[in-house]
Order: sequence, then C-alpha cells, then structure tokens
Amino acid sequence: MRFLLRLVILLLVLAAAGWAFAFSGFYNVAATEPHWKPVQKFLMFGMDQSVEHHAKGIVAPDNLQDTVVIHKGFEHFKEMCVQCHGAPGVERSEMAKGLNPRAPKLIWAAKEDGPAELFWITKNGVKMSGMPGFGPTHDDEEIWAIVAFMKQLPNLDSAGYAALQEKWCDKGEMDGMDIQCHKMMMGMDCEKMKMDCKRKHMDCERQSDGTSHHPGPPQAIK
Ligand code: HEC
Repeated sequence: MRFLLRLVILLLVLAAAGWAFAFSGFYNVAATEPHWKPVQKFLMFGMDQSVEHHAKGIVAPDNLQDTVVIHKGFEHFKEMCVQCHGAPGVERSEMAKGLNPRAPKLIWAAKEDGPAELFWITKNGVKMSGMPGFGPTHDDEEIWAIVAFMKQLPNLDSAGYAALQEKWCDKGEMDGMDIQCHKMMMGMDCEKMKMDCKRKHMDCERQSDGTSHHPGPPQAIK
C-alpha cells in the first residue's frame, strides 16, 4: 500500500515537472532546430513499430506488377509525392527542404518496407511530421496503385524516371495551357490525356473568361 502511494506521488511529481517544462516554453519547437540524436532515434523507432503493428493483417492485391496499375500510381506519385520526397533525378522542392523530420527519398522504404506498410503510411500519414494521410481523398485502389509504383523506385535511375515521364506524359501538349486546364487534367490518365488534350484544351478556351494566358485563339492549337 505504502509502495503504491509512493508510486502515485512519483508519477504526479513527474507529470507536474513535464507540465512545468512545457509551460516554461523552454523547449524549442523550431523545425530548423534538429532533434537531439537519441530523441530522434527513439521517435523513428516508435514510428517503425507503430507502422508495423498497424499494417498487420493488410493484404496486398496481386496486381502490383501490372503496368496499367503502376502507370496509374506514377500519375499520383508525380502529382502528390515528388515535391516532398523527390524521385530518381528529381530534387525535393524548396518547401520540402524545410521539413523536420525530412521527407526521405522513398527508394530505401520501397526496398525495406512491405507493400502493406507502404499502403498504411500512404493512407494514414504520420502525425506531427508533415506526411499527409491520403485516405480521406483517395480510395484504396488508388493508394495500392501508388504502392505499386513505389515498389518500382529501386529499379529506376534518373534516366529511367525521366523516360517514364517522357513515355507517359507528353509534356509538349501541356505547354501553353492555363492553370484551369492543368487543374482539369490532374489525376487524368496520361495516355487518355494525350488523346483528350486537344479537346479539353478547346473546352478550357471556351470556358475561359478572357483572362487565360493562351497565346492565341483555339484554332492556333495544333
Ligand atoms: C508535404 C510533404 C509530404 C508529401 C506531399 C508526402 N510526404 Fe511522405 N513523408 C513526409 C515526411 C516528412 C515523412 C517522414 C515522416 C517521419 O519520419 O516521421 C514522410 C514519410 C513517408 C514514408 C515513410 C518513409 C520511410 O522511410 O519510412 C512513405 C512510404 C511516404 N512518406 C510516402 C508518401 C507518398 C506515397 C506520398 C504521395 C502520395 C507522400 N509520401 C507525400 C512528407 C510528405
């Protein structure tokens, strides 16, 4: 009984000390201030354990090698992940360089983590880290497609990644389009986009209120 009482008092003292530390404002929350190494190691350990635990029981579909699925994943990846994580031959954006923890290049994770873990992280994100959860905006099929693409990352060098962009997205056709057009295109399948590009472009022209930066009238688009 005495022991229990001591334990409770000790816990109360520790809680009060923790609260006083937070209250003092002494702790520096600046993202530019790196964590103390042991704390960083501890946090990373906690994250790994949490992901492993929560991803248990998630079963990957058997189509992750399917080119159509990988292609779909690439589309999402280049719209939503590259700016933070970079890709072979592609730098992280300036915004991502200020993140703490840093968004790692995903090649290592793609090699080390199982599909279920990659799926869980992409769907749920990581609290207090800048890694968004994509579950609220994407269905499981789309997230599995992203996983399928991530699993290809270790096989791609910068030339390979650039070749994919070339093959799957005809940038030339996108040139000169206004922001509204780009927004309409987002998430569209690249192959389909190539075919639909001209037509969509015309639609955009028709909808535009004259503020579009297109250089010429619709008939100028070849
Ligand atoms: C706004 C920036 C940002 C965007 C956008 C973003 N991430 Fe992240 N991501 C992070 C950060 C930061 C971490 C590191 C989290 C940590 O270590 O606690 C991370 C971690 C991860 C990890 C775990 C990596 C590892 O080594 O364990 C995976 C997998 C991942 N992200 C996938 C994705 C995918 C897929 C997308 C796009 C659908 C994406 N992320 C978009 C910031 C971002």
